[in-house]
Amino acid sequence: MPVSRRQFLICTASLAAAAPLARLLAQPKFEKYPYTLGVASGYPTQQGVVLWTRLAPEPLAGGGMPQAAVEVAWEVAADEAFRRIVARGTEIAAPEWAHSVHAEVTGLEPARWYFYRFRAGDAVSPVGRTRTAPTRAERMRFALASCQQYEQGFYAAYRHMVQEDLDLVIHVGDYIYESSWGRNHVRSHGTGEPVTLADYRNRHALYKSDADLQAAHTAFPWIATWDDHEVQNDYANDRSQYLDEPRVFLERRAAAYRAYYEHIPLPAWARPRGPDMRLYTRADFGGLAAFHVLDDRQYRSHQVCPRPGRGGSTVVPAADCPERSDAKLTLLGAAQEKWLQDGLARSGARWNVIAQQTMMAQVDRMPGEGQSFWTDGWDGYPKARGRLLKFVAENRVANPVVIGGDVHMFVVADLMTDFDDPRSPVVATEFVGTSITSQGMPRKRLESWRDDNPHIHFTNSTRRGYTTFDLTAKRCVARLRAVWDVTDPASSIRTLATYTVEDGRPGAQRGG
Ligand SMILES: [Fe+2]
Repeated sequence: MPVSRRQFLICTASLAAAAPLARLLAQPKFEKYPYTLGVASGYPTQQGVVLWTRLAPEPLAGGGMPQAAVEVAWEVAADEAFRRIVARGTEIAAPEWAHSVHAEVTGLEPARWYFYRFRAGDAVSPVGRTRTAPTRAERMRFALASCQQYEQGFYAAYRHMVQEDLDLVIHVGDYIYESSWGRNHVRSHGTGEPVTLADYRNRHALYKSDADLQAAHTAFPWIATWDDHEVQNDYANDRSQYLDEPRVFLERRAAAYRAYYEHIPLPAWARPRGPDMRLYTRADFGGLAAFHVLDDRQYRSHQVCPRPGRGGSTVVPAADCPERSDAKLTLLGAAQEKWLQDGLARSGARWNVIAQQTMMAQVDRMPGEGQSFWTDGWDGYPKARGRLLKFVAENRVANPVVIGGDVHMFVVADLMTDFDDPRSPVVATEFVGTSITSQGMPRKRLESWRDDNPHIHFTNSTRRGYTTFDLTAKRCVARLRAVWDVTDPASSIRTLATYTVEDGRPGAQRGG
């Protein structure tokens, strides 16, 4: 619901008693175009969607807006020419929220394309397109994206994604990177690691200034969850990889979460409170698909067996780190774990897509005898993974498909309750959708692991891109879409492989 002016004044007043009330500009005058970061929509339901923009005439320097609240009008139309307006309203773009706008539109019809735009003063935004969720669907198509390190490539993947026929884009994290790393940079962050709210806002603005990323937001509604780099590499809950004082780190996390909220088309329920921000959620697509979107960063146990004097992850021989098998370790936290189990048990959907940020399948990284594991993904929390997969099996959750990111490679894997027992049944299927730009590990290393991980059907760490999923009652077809040259913004794309999951039969089969 749009926030009324009175509510807004009350909110602002309670935000910081010491701060003076913001002035309200109903008819702002802009010397420079304020919609430099484009428009976006997200979190579609059967009746509505969230519309987003941010007024930022100087996007890389704090936004360039006055310390005043601004009235922003929005319109939704059934046609691109805005002849048939079906909804309109006004939101307040407040300086406390970096003049971002999150308009929650209701009263729309299900399974329809809509067009939307914003107006502040005489400045009109580009037109965005969005789509509501269906009440009953026979098919749907969505794309999985993650990991878009700005310096390591151009967003050719998004340039191609906008040509696809999609109902939804799901982004599973590393939407921004706080750090500069990797080789052969094609462009630069231009600033150091963000720490303050102003820093994180400028980093988000830099990424959002990319025309191809904007185009992908303009073309489809998105649902997003974050991974570590939205805050800091490998952070876990209140622990930074440098073991900063938790109180200090949580202040940084609060800044990072707030900037994330300000730049993603999130509903009001996600609005952060200090260092806490609810992000996990569920989205229904007309009985055909339920998306269970997880947050495995905010509530997780600290990674086990870190290097001396450090937080964060390592690759450890299993024999040297018995702590890994502690059943108390959690990746989701108790409340989210219960929420997920309840949702899976109650779901009436044909396909249950579990969208999360890290890789779920076990990957033994020690060729031959013995095992070693990376402690940042589910491999660092094997008992929590076992609990989830056992729950999925015992409750006969319909067609569980796990989608993930983080590891910068395409992975197609079968998920079982016990990866070390070859007779253990396959209970779910996993697809990791490589990265939009972020660099992957050498192919040789990946190949050396192959014999030790027979449940992994396919890997490719050298290609960047995304994955599309076609869902019908009978099957889920995943297409692994690979950009040819990530240093070329106009690079071609091709389908590297196609895999199918048949209804009622967990596990991936080659072909589509
Ligand atoms: Fe990443």
